[in-house]
Amino acid sequence: MPIFKTVPSKIKDICLIISSLSIFYLLSHPLTPLTPSVPSVTTVITPPPLTSRHVLFSIASSSKSYINRKPYLHLWYNPNSTNAITFLDRPISHVTNPNPNLPPIIISSDTSHFPYTFPKGLRSAIRVARIVKEAVDYVTVTESLKDNIRWYVFGDDDTVFVRENVVRVLSKYDDKKWYYIGGRSESYDQNMQHSFNMAFGGGGFAISGSLGRVLGRVLDSCLRRYPHVYGSDSRVYSCLVELGVELTYEPGFHQVDVRGDLFGILAAHPLSPLLSLHHFDIIDPIFPGLTKQESVKHLFKAVNHDPPRILQQAVCYDSSKSITISVSWGYVVQVFEGNQLLPDLIRVQKTFTSWRRKETSFSRLHMFDMRDYSKDPCKSPDLFFFEGIVPEEKRSHTFYTRKKSMNCSRSEGIRNLVNIKVFSRKIDADTQQISPPRRECCEILQPYNETMVIALRRCEIDELIAMDP
Ligand SMILES: *[C@@H]1O[C@H](CO)[C@@H](O)[C@H](O)[C@H]1NC(C)=O
Ligand SMILES: *[C@@H]1O[C@H](CO)[C@@H](O)[C@H](O)[C@H]1NC(C)=O
Ligand SMILES: *[C@@H]1O[C@H](CO)[C@@H](O)[C@H](O)[C@H]1NC(C)=O
Repeated sequence: MPIFKTVPSKIKDICLIISSLSIFYLLSHPLTPLTPSVPSVTTVITPPPLTSRHVLFSIASSSKSYINRKPYLHLWYNPNSTNAITFLDRPISHVTNPNPNLPPIIISSDTSHFPYTFPKGLRSAIRVARIVKEAVDYVTVTESLKDNIRWYVFGDDDTVFVRENVVRVLSKYDDKKWYYIGGRSESYDQNMQHSFNMAFGGGGFAISGSLGRVLGRVLDSCLRRYPHVYGSDSRVYSCLVELGVELTYEPGFHQVDVRGDLFGILAAHPLSPLLSLHHFDIIDPIFPGLTKQESVKHLFKAVNHDPPRILQQAVCYDSSKSITISVSWGYVVQVFEGNQLLPDLIRVQKTFTSWRRKETSFSRLHMFDMRDYSKDPCKSPDLFFFEGIVPEEKRSHTFYTRKKSMNCSRSEGIRNLVNIKVFSRKIDADTQQISPPRRECCEILQPYNETMVIALRRCEIDELIAMDP
């Protein structure tokens, strides 16, 4: 019997089944057009790998601070390979703009009509928060940027970025999705006051291009709703919370909310790459015998050759002489007597003081594992600070010399040491270190007396970092 002769009720049933099936299909594939019956070829367009031309750094400065902070910008800004802009509250008469060696200056628009009610705070926080919007607007109208920028990075004029590392770390994330990436304060107290979920602005933070465009559109409305919060970063954070976005924590951003000697923090950096440092005008010079700015410049001699390796900590042991050596690449080598276990060596030595000078119940607390650092130099390790680098194309030798210290009684293996030379290969950031990183191993070349040579290398599969594994 031909099918068209089916009784009407059967046809109804079939229609019902077909329509239910298509409703079911529409519900499970809500965006799929129904029309194409030819098999469709899905082309997956992979975006080109992220490079510095896809990232825009926006720096919050002011007519008051710009001249003194310019040297920090020079450290990391390279006109040939960095997109960056600096925002000022008003023009400075004797400053040339544009200066080919510094980011172009943009004068922020007037924000006096926005309310600010935080007691004793600075209303410039509104202008600085609004840089997020102004940076997005700038990209939209700038021919060379508008089709290229995939990430917005924000910082202060005293934020020192390790630009290459920022690009490498951001390349882990999809800029088409909404990302808010940054670091917290080191100070528990500061996080408690502002938020444990906020990226602190001085350490710098990143916003994906897709999120930046939306945030730019809605920010002004948030600025009117949060006149009572303290800083620019709190304003940006509040608006992101309202958009339903949460912080993605990257431990390489450093707000540096501490005072005094940053040594303990620098010498025990996490394995993830150093992304930024801040507050160099407030902390002590990071190298003995140099000024604050000279000392940062000195660190950058190492940064510029092998950025992913800067501050990376490797530990080696000489069991015959019972010595433990901790190399924080490009910064310091610490020589300890005896067997120091790795879990102790990666704790931050408390060489610094608290951000808040007034003592509160929380002011001594910090956001990482710590251990005491003895003020008696004979009870602390012998220190060999970074002196210089001999760069080669794929590797380098870095040199460290002993910091002049008291005559402490030391075992023979340590007493005569004057120089330490560290050999390393450049870190291939595509394959090494980025998610998940593994600490490198190191080897002390025997024999040594006044000069010790150390080679850094990848650990063997089963190799343990210990004196007697
Ligand atoms: C930028 O590129 C130009 C031309 O290649 C070069 O002369 C200059 O030294 C570069 N500047 C920096 C800071 O690398
Ligand atoms: C250290 O000892 C040497 C010789 O033992 C002595 O000449 C020197 O003055 C001492 N230095 C200090 C700082 O005590
Ligand atoms: C080690 O160096 C010291 C001087 O710092 C020297 O007196 C001693 O002879 C040297 N030892 C060897 C084995 O070279």
